[in-house]
Amino acid sequence: MPLKIITTEDGSQSLYDDELNETYHSTKGARGESIYIFIEKGLEFLLSLKTNHQLPISILEVGFGTGLNALLVWDWADRNKRPIHFSTLEPFPVPEEIWNEMDLMSDPRFEQLHRASWNEQIQLSLNFELGKSKDPLEDLGTKNQYDVIFFDAFAPSKQPEIWTIENLQRCYESLRQGGILTTYCAQGQFKRNLASVGFKVEVLPGALGKKEMVRGRK
Ligand SMILES: C[S@@+](CC[C@H](N)C(=O)[O-])C[C@H]1O[C@@H](n2cnc3c(N)ncnc32)[C@H](O)[C@@H]1O
Repeated sequence: MPLKIITTEDGSQSLYDDELNETYHSTKGARGESIYIFIEKGLEFLLSLKTNHQLPISILEVGFGTGLNALLVWDWADRNKRPIHFSTLEPFPVPEEIWNEMDLMSDPRFEQLHRASWNEQIQLSLNFELGKSKDPLEDLGTKNQYDVIFFDAFAPSKQPEIWTIENLQRCYESLRQGGILTTYCAQGQFKRNLASVGFKVEVLPGALGKKEMVRGRK
């Protein structure tokens, strides 16, 4: 396995994939990036719209990876006492010998996230339900189900097959009306593809000094 644990500039850890020459998060700060892109510009933005959400709030993550986003959402749900159903796709799970060595193990919830069975809905706390699937995004067939999609695939330069119009169409269809997709990526072709499948595309300042990020709304 070509994965190595790295420490990013805010002190939080991420992984580096040697084969892809790609990190799982920004080297400027794994935790800082995840909180900004997915919690603040995704989940909290959705709630700020004050539309009538069905409960629980339903999130789909593309790429469970280290489990950092999942842990941050679980923590958010418990602190804010808002029920969240978190579905996450990961066809290539990080092996135990890697996640087991990460600093995030100091939080017992991190191990629970990794040990949770695949293809089952598991209530991990009063307000946090998890569904992990090894299905790739290419197999996503849900319709009108999610409020927010965390599009956290590897960069288009590394995994262009994930950022296709067909996959973005799947994401669009799987969102409820008014739902949002949020991602660190602001590549031109990606923005055009998002718009072409129906998203209203917004460009926002990026995380931790990065110029731009993108949010799409259905
Ligand atoms: C940038 S990392 C995700 C980081 C993760 N969200 C975290 O908090 O650590 C991208 C992830 O997408 C996964 N992935 C690769 N191909 C995929 C596919 N076809 N569908 C869904 N996920 C995929 C990779 O295995 C990798 O774990």
